[in-house]
Amino acid sequence: MPAHRTFRRLLTVPTLASALVLAACSSAPAPKSLPPAAPAAVATPMAQEAQAIMRSASASLVSGKLTLTPVQGGVRIAGIVGGLPASGRFGFHVHETGDCSAVDASSAGGHFNPTHQPHGSAKIGAHHLGDMDNIVADAEGVARIDTLLGGVLLGGGGSTDLVGRALVVHANPDDYATQPAGNAGPRVACGVIKVIR
Ligand code: CU
Ligand code: ZN
Repeated sequence: MPAHRTFRRLLTVPTLASALVLAACSSAPAPKSLPPAAPAAVATPMAQEAQAIMRSASASLVSGKLTLTPVQGGVRIAGIVGGLPASGRFGFHVHETGDCSAVDASSAGGHFNPTHQPHGSAKIGAHHLGDMDNIVADAEGVARIDTLLGGVLLGGGGSTDLVGRALVVHANPDDYATQPAGNAGPRVACGVIKVIR
């Protein structure tokens, strides 16, 4: 019995060593660590509520706060934007990039358009998924917004997910026709859509 054990050990040790040498000589670069385990079933979770704090852009006085909640068929966007010229109408869209850092909010990119459609009216015909109706300011320059944006999701990380996009208010009304953005003029407020819960 003891002799048999020694024999096995002698056999085992060189075998392991040659395996290591083989691995080291292999032409493919040796992985620095084990490959990550197969992604667990934790996709980006769906959100119950998100928020966009609308901050002034292009030296405007416009600001506000919008809350986004998932509803059947889309996402409800509701809240208040103030500091607008009284009784005006203003373009309002989801833009592609959640970056409002540029003074003119150009960093937010173009309209959110994962389905590659032309700009248009959210109500009729082809349009960007981020296209919405103009917002309307009252005599005090306050717009009370409560709109349903169809065909989009809140969370989940898919192409129609609004999280990490930006909401933008423009200086002029959207004509729902001019490409690529409805001729709505400068961006006067911008807010990144962030998950609250
Ligand atoms: Cu816009
Ligand atoms: Zn558009």
